[in-house]
Amino acid sequence: MTIPLFDRATEAQRFIMAEAGQRSPRVAIVLGSGLSDVAQAVRDAVEIPYQQIPHFVQSTVEGHAGKLILGECGGVEVAVMKGRFHFYEGYSMEEITLPIRAFSLLGIRSLILTNAAGSIDKRLAPGSLMIISDHLNLMGENPLLGPNDARFGPRFPDMTEVYSDSYIALALEAAKEIGLELPQGVYAGLRGPTYETPAEVRMLRTLGADAVGMSTVPEAIVARHSGISVLAFSCLTNYAAGLSDAAINHEDVIEIGKAAGKKLAELILKIVPRLHL
Ligand code: HPA
Repeated sequence: MTIPLFDRATEAQRFIMAEAGQRSPRVAIVLGSGLSDVAQAVRDAVEIPYQQIPHFVQSTVEGHAGKLILGECGGVEVAVMKGRFHFYEGYSMEEITLPIRAFSLLGIRSLILTNAAGSIDKRLAPGSLMIISDHLNLMGENPLLGPNDARFGPRFPDMTEVYSDSYIALALEAAKEIGLELPQGVYAGLRGPTYETPAEVRMLRTLGADAVGMSTVPEAIVARHSGISVLAFSCLTNYAAGLSDAAINHEDVIEIGKAAGKKLAELILKIVPRLHL
């Protein structure tokens, strides 16, 4: 018999709480490929490898360290996921989003998601950052499929404002202060693990996407189901297939991600203390 999701998430939450000591995280941050700079800014940190946390799966992707970091960032208690789980790794939607379930049971009300993504808009050059204003779920799956547990949220969650308008306003203000250009755009989540064909990228453009990647959407859906407010950023690591002649490879994605990750870390550190808790 598989253990019900609520019970699995509760076991993970209890374990994290026991490890956290006096800490009581209010904001969670998920770091995408190569975007680990934020983690270095966390003070008095406790680090918990994913393999120790009940029902957390393993991060199998290069560039994704697998640990949860609990500590203080700009005067706010945070939980930082250094490395995330992806659908293309072969895990179920429920497995990859279990950390978000555990966060909701921990009382976390604000979630910052980050990812590396391909740019579908010529104006968004590799190395730039984008705020996700909305998404297209093209993963052919939904993490809420199956019986609904009302202790998490409603059967039919509203998706009108997945990415909080007020958080976007805060992020734009913070970006202005540090002289950072921060366009908004629509993120298309695909299951991967292949990068797209040029024809697929043209299709995505027609559908209204500005960036394409293989994560974030399931986590955002689950967070909204639990009433957590979401802010999300894409770090555009490359032009999507067909927008430039260059082939796309994971090593370049990590390298460009690291450079842009510094700017993203600076921005996130400014934003975290301003999220109304
Ligand atoms: N496509 C999908 N995912 C990605 C890309 C891309 O071009 N770059 C980084 N993640």
